[in-house]
Amino acid sequence: MDKRNKSLNTVDSWASENLPISQHKEKLVHAVRVNPFLVVTGETGSGKTTQLPQYLYHAGFGKDGKIGVTQPRRVAAITVAQRVSQEIGCSLGREVGYQVRFDDCSSEDTVIKYMTDGCLLREILADPRLTRYSVVVLDEAHERSLNTDILLGLLKRKVLQPQGGSSGRSTPLKVVVMSATLDTDKLSAFFGHCPVFTIPGRTFPVSERFCGLIGPKDTDSTVYVKEVVKVALDLHTSEMAGDILVFLTGQSEIEKACDMLYEKAEAVDYRYDVRDSSVEGLLILPLYGSMPTDQQRQIFEPPPKGVRKCVVATNIAAMSLTINGIRYIVDSGFVKQLNHNSRVGMDILEVVPISKSEAQQRAGRAGRTSAGKCFRIYSKEFWEKCMPEYMVPEIQRTSLTAVILTLKCLSVHDVIRFPYLDRPEERFILAALKQLYQCDAIDRRGHVTRLGRLMVEFPLAPGLTRALLKAASLGCEDLLLPVAAMLSVENIFIRPGQQEKQQDAETEHRQLIEESGSCNDFAVLLGVFEKCRASDSPSAWCRDHWIHWRALKSAFNVETQLREILLRLKQQRDFPVETFDGSRSELFRRCLCTGYFANVARRSVGRTFCTMDGHGSVVHIHPSSALFEQDQLDWIIFHDVLVTSRVYIRTVCPVRYEWVKDLLPKLHEVDAYELSNVAREEVTDEEVAKWEAKETAKRQAEVSAEDSL
Ligand code: CDP
Ligand code: MG
Repeated sequence: MDKRNKSLNTVDSWASENLPISQHKEKLVHAVRVNPFLVVTGETGSGKTTQLPQYLYHAGFGKDGKIGVTQPRRVAAITVAQRVSQEIGCSLGREVGYQVRFDDCSSEDTVIKYMTDGCLLREILADPRLTRYSVVVLDEAHERSLNTDILLGLLKRKVLQPQGGSSGRSTPLKVVVMSATLDTDKLSAFFGHCPVFTIPGRTFPVSERFCGLIGPKDTDSTVYVKEVVKVALDLHTSEMAGDILVFLTGQSEIEKACDMLYEKAEAVDYRYDVRDSSVEGLLILPLYGSMPTDQQRQIFEPPPKGVRKCVVATNIAAMSLTINGIRYIVDSGFVKQLNHNSRVGMDILEVVPISKSEAQQRAGRAGRTSAGKCFRIYSKEFWEKCMPEYMVPEIQRTSLTAVILTLKCLSVHDVIRFPYLDRPEERFILAALKQLYQCDAIDRRGHVTRLGRLMVEFPLAPGLTRALLKAASLGCEDLLLPVAAMLSVENIFIRPGQQEKQQDAETEHRQLIEESGSCNDFAVLLGVFEKCRASDSPSAWCRDHWIHWRALKSAFNVETQLREILLRLKQQRDFPVETFDGSRSELFRRCLCTGYFANVARRSVGRTFCTMDGHGSVVHIHPSSALFEQDQLDWIIFHDVLVTSRVYIRTVCPVRYEWVKDLLPKLHEVDAYELSNVAREEVTDEEVAKWEAKETAKRQAEVSAEDSL
């Protein structure tokens, strides 16, 4: 009760009636009513995400189906749903709910459903016409996440198809696309030049300063963490009251920065050191994706009187979450991004400079309610030389394997000519087709196989899913389900900062590796999972062994959900059954081989390995691996790659040449062009001609638009 009252106060203090969107309520509702597609744009913080779904709800749009609102980020989906349920006055999961991967907080009663774009994509697989929805809002389209981009293409097609009859819908689905940037002409053109509703916003000037502490050569994270802390503390003591928002890259950097800030803030003497005498303290709050939900909520609450709030966040606070009261921005200039790395042929989380337009968006967060200041820790030279003008959309820089499989399962055979808002390079599509073929998810003609249809049901990477399905067909899913769950949650091993504790933790972790009985990182994960679950007090067990209890608890939950999916498929589908004669350890490793054979490497010189997928990259086993100091290895498979000055492979398992021998030719056997050519044949000549005519018209329109400028 207490907690609820506190939250309601917060809601009151930032009354939703004062948001820029509130004056446009009737017009917005009308626009949705009369248009099958609508683009809505307005500054971040104008109230699009929290208010528009409520307007539609109160206008009766929820009567014929749910109002679904997609978010690229799970934190946004959860926190926004919390907020909106408070505003409406229901408990979360009733009229207002959310669904993110492995966490469904919605019910039969849910009318406004916030969810990640990935979840909606899964729902489309089960219900291609989205019959449960009356409106779908694709929110934060400016973030250009891979899944949102795919949804844009799908909804464009699905909704354009004739309604009624076999469609299973009583009223046509409404599609609203919301974006914070002004690049809305492109979105509107994409949906047949649909109307654009602009919410006029009021912003205050933000002064921008380059502190010049980071130059074009500084990419080491320890450098920018230190500088960010220095600038934040300087401004805490030298600037007038107002909250600070610091942009950093990821969880570990954020935690490090918070620790450092905390230490330094302790030493501030508020009688002498601060310029504004009303400032009497600093409240430091981290904000990143995998943070526990109750902590996330704190971010939005106003700080106690006299205390300055300092939120240290990832990019999430730039685009999809608005924190009230921010007057100062400290921008590190970096972001952690998933990029396809052609050196190793895999997607890798990398720290890269943000684009200039993202830097402007970050600065803008300080000017929502009054004039603000933005401190950029980098130099003007860094801005000019290292920062691109615009961010490259995810669809053009990451692996498309999972979404291409989804498209194929939705009978979109011609994945090359799918209506992409921004077309990915053809070689990325071909690489995805090739990987799907290697996993037996599609056949030589580019058609989805029985196995592919099973694979698409799992919210996991294709390789891991393949291994899991192999295990399931051999009746040993108990080996792979925990592993898949453990690899789906954040890192479970605690690495304390303090040296003494670090040694303690390392000893415990080594002990766990030894107890698992084999030099196989997957087996270590399985061992930790099983031991912890079998212990009398799992949380105490985790504390004793330096394991993140929160991560393990979610792994238990994920394992149950994966098991349920598997059980359902075994009951409903014609599930393959195989037999195997051999030890448990061999069985385990053979299943892993089936999934990960594209990630196979062979010993090269010294302790280096060479990958066999055609890239022939030289890789090293990461020090965190149980195999780090092993000399007797010849062939290994691995789960992922970390690129620093070296290319490290993590979560490694030794295998035998005989096990991969028959699989390896598959890596080179098929020409990706062959797969895609077959895909092209699926389209009739007539359709191709129509498509080409449309493309030409579009290009001509673009050219004449440019001419008229
Ligand atoms: O979507 P858009 O960026 O246009 O705005 P919004 O996310 O709907 O935010 C509107 C207001 O609600 C802002 O002032 C946010 O700070 C506030 N809000 C909040 O206090 N708590 C949340 N969990 C979400 C939004
Ligand atoms: Mg929003």
